[in-house]
Amino acid sequence: MKEISAGVIFSIPYEIAVVRPLKQTTLEERERALRAAYYNTELIPQELIYIDLKTDSGVSSLSTAQLAKLAGLGPLESGMEMAPEGNRAFVRLSESFQKIFGFPYMIPVAQGRAAERIWTKLHIKESAVVAGNMLFPSTRFHIESNGGKVIDVISESAHDLYSAQLFKGDVDLVKLEDAFKEHGGKVCCIYVELCVNSCGGHPVSLGNLKAVKAIAAAHKVPLFLDACRILENSYLVKQREPGYQNRSLQEIVNETCLLADGCTMSALKDFLVPSGGMIAMRDEASYQKASVQNFLNGSQPASEAMGAMGVALQEIFASDSYVTSRVEQVNYLWRRLKDGIPILTPPGGHGVFIDVKSFLPQLPAENHPAEALAAFIYHMSGIRVSKGPPLAPSQTARGVELLRLAVPARRYLQGHIDDVAEAVQYAYSRRDEIKGLRKIEKPGRSRFEPALFAPP
Ligand code: F0G
Repeated sequence: MKEISAGVIFSIPYEIAVVRPLKQTTLEERERALRAAYYNTELIPQELIYIDLKTDSGVSSLSTAQLAKLAGLGPLESGMEMAPEGNRAFVRLSESFQKIFGFPYMIPVAQGRAAERIWTKLHIKESAVVAGNMLFPSTRFHIESNGGKVIDVISESAHDLYSAQLFKGDVDLVKLEDAFKEHGGKVCCIYVELCVNSCGGHPVSLGNLKAVKAIAAAHKVPLFLDACRILENSYLVKQREPGYQNRSLQEIVNETCLLADGCTMSALKDFLVPSGGMIAMRDEASYQKASVQNFLNGSQPASEAMGAMGVALQEIFASDSYVTSRVEQVNYLWRRLKDGIPILTPPGGHGVFIDVKSFLPQLPAENHPAEALAAFIYHMSGIRVSKGPPLAPSQTARGVELLRLAVPARRYLQGHIDDVAEAVQYAYSRRDEIKGLRKIEKPGRSRFEPALFAPP
């Protein structure tokens, strides 16, 4: 047991059963690796990374019971039949999902974006408008590539990197009503992402979600959730929203889902699996259409992956201790950095975000300060951080530049996290030496290929 903040004592609800050895690299090796990767830390081979904070998605540590499922131990179950009723793994997982989240219909899928693709097919028609709170790029892409339009109605505090507002993921209700006034019947739904990834992992309060639901009902449109970070959101609701302190995580998850007409979810984040997700709905007709679409898209998960998701659900909801230790670890890193380093406030659920413009005020955007800082941190420490998913248009318009320290769940010990804090503090103490990078343009390279850089 360890005391990590005044009055809060928590235990880590697992122990290490399997380890992956890490190679220790020298400064020279890391310099060579950076040159070979054209100073893009995303291209550095995994074996040359000490601590990897590029993403928390699909990279959490597995439990022994999950490993057994993924290795196919236990009764063999086929995973690819069209009729879910015919497939034991599918049925079992759908039942656990229903019990935990409370939606009457839930379909396991291979990934979050697979759920979004099905969802779009069901709900997005040409010129449809979706009101959302800084939706994730893949969600936005699916809507826009099907002829729809996304209106960002997140609260202004999401753009104030240092405001103390506790629920910066909240929807701005005035902006939401304005979207209905401006686009009238074209607004087909409201889509709320929980613990909004792009702006710092900030949560959505249930008070706000209830108000959003009331507006959705008044305009007779459905409310959908991007629920991949519903656990972290629920934990932060319990910590921060009056009236929820004595509620269990399971109760808060249920109350959140009760407000929604459906959800999409990637299980690679809060649900601790390398692949998997689900789409949920309340009406049978959508369920039938979504089942067929899942089959046509070939996006059913393998039965082993479904088994691993099922185990994760049992383990996570056995008590609140797993999610407590997960979010508190992120919080610990945030507290180690908050005095002195420009990081987004307050702490979010899955990572710590550096405000790069304040970290490196001397470097203009054309010197790629975020990539330069990531390269410097890697060079000095072997730790990988990255910009994370592309920023939302409303952030780009405001010239925001972020580096995300996404903490994979159950993977790192406090000693690792201390090393991360020290590496970032060290980089800050030598920030004047960070000179920026020059982008290398090569003819014929598409804009989807990773960017390549060189020293200035
Ligand atoms: N929604 C959110 C909020 C996400 O963060 C992601 C993925 C997705 C949807 C898509 O899910 O990857 O299973 O298809 N986020 C990852 C990240 C990539 O690094 O934050 P997926």
